[in-house]
Amino acid sequence: MLTVDDVNYDLHEIAALAGSERAPAIINLSSGINSWHPPQRLVSFVVNAASDPLFWEDYDGPYGHVVGRAAVAACESLRGDGQLELGVENVLVTAGASAALTVAARGMRHTLSASAGGEPPQAIIPVPTFPMAAACLAQAGFRIVELSAAPGHRWLPSVAEVTAATTPHTRVLYLNTFNNPSGEFYDGTELRQLVVWARDHDVTILHDTVSSDISCAGPVPHLLSIAAAAGYPDGVVTVGSMSKSRSIPGFRVGWLIAGVQLARQFARLNDLVAPSSPAIASPALLVDRLAAVAGEQLDTAGDPTLPHAAHDLAATVGAAWNLVLELTGPYLPAFPGLDTFLGTAAAELAENGAVHELARWRASLRDQLAGNAAILSEEFSDLVGKVPAWHGDFNTFVELPALRGRDYLDTTYRLFRDHGLQTLPAPAFGYHSAWWAERGYFTRLSFALPVETWTEGLQRLRRAVMEA
Ligand SMILES: Cc1ncc(COP(=O)(O)O)c(C=O)c1O
Repeated sequence: MLTVDDVNYDLHEIAALAGSERAPAIINLSSGINSWHPPQRLVSFVVNAASDPLFWEDYDGPYGHVVGRAAVAACESLRGDGQLELGVENVLVTAGASAALTVAARGMRHTLSASAGGEPPQAIIPVPTFPMAAACLAQAGFRIVELSAAPGHRWLPSVAEVTAATTPHTRVLYLNTFNNPSGEFYDGTELRQLVVWARDHDVTILHDTVSSDISCAGPVPHLLSIAAAAGYPDGVVTVGSMSKSRSIPGFRVGWLIAGVQLARQFARLNDLVAPSSPAIASPALLVDRLAAVAGEQLDTAGDPTLPHAAHDLAATVGAAWNLVLELTGPYLPAFPGLDTFLGTAAAELAENGAVHELARWRASLRDQLAGNAAILSEEFSDLVGKVPAWHGDFNTFVELPALRGRDYLDTTYRLFRDHGLQTLPAPAFGYHSAWWAERGYFTRLSFALPVETWTEGLQRLRRAVMEA
């Protein structure tokens, strides 16, 4: 029996199909992340730096190493344009965003004011979305309120739909930018309205930014700054990771940003599973967060070969670096060798180093994803229904009209066994099959595949759909 849980296929079945001579090569049409590789320069910088005993000779505590925390705080502070007061005490380094979500859910359950009448606190989850968020919150003791948009709108519920779902027990709203699987996001006006609603109703926004920085085709509103401007910076808990945006889920490097009180509670809980961050985490975050800032600068300034753009880029990365130095400065006496490490790293990350390479890599990733998005809309419009507007995310969520009325799980099995196609059907992203069956047959597709694999996968899907 092929077991497909929320997001994974059974390893035995994958091996059996992949090892069979008559079966076609397996194409994972719903998650192309494994087909994409981070720049070698990033990997070699991280691995070399992680061999410095500074990062592995002792436990660095449940918040994680100060270098990684400083890099995260510096990047967000720069995005906040001086309006955010973030220090290392606001940041935890985690084993990916999944660990951050687990810790955040449990920590919030402990800390957020209890509901009247002993009712469990509620968490609003826009559907479809990443299933683990609801699972973490449910496991921590929240009652999950799944919320979809009215038909005909985009997938994300409107602000009015979110606020109409409020009850006296609502304590958490989960937001995912870009939303997995639809790739949609709330614009600045909507986020301002949601922040004001959250502030006035004592709701914490759990913001999952795992996909925010994949290859944004335009500026993404900065929720933490919006919350700070509304006097509610501690009402947002942010989780993020390198898994998607750098195509490196195996590194397990993520982070959590929260107000100081909540962060302290999160660290207590993190101590139970991770009293130290992995050695690679801080070097990885140093490059990654500087590259995030550099990438945004490249997007606004344009061609980096132009003298003014190159100058602005160097100034932005320099500002981020200075902030890292400022934030780590008070802790230098606690880490003999940190000063030397930072000096060596500065030289390696500087001009034409790993930071710039990663920023350029992101631009080439965007070109690739945009090309695959165009192929889907232009060459396979007979296969899929309306494709949500593409903003730079890996994923999209589409209807396969020819499969309307088909059983979700049976069809998923058949696509895999008969056609070697791995897909993630709509019920993996919230609500149940019966709810989805009334709407059609929807699936997530990932643009993060080499163009030949993407085209072959879609051709195979077309054949499978025609045979159905
Ligand atoms: C929205 C979202 N959040 C979190 C994760 C998990 O990320 P990580 O690998 O950092 O645990 C994923 C992975 O698919 C995701 O899509």
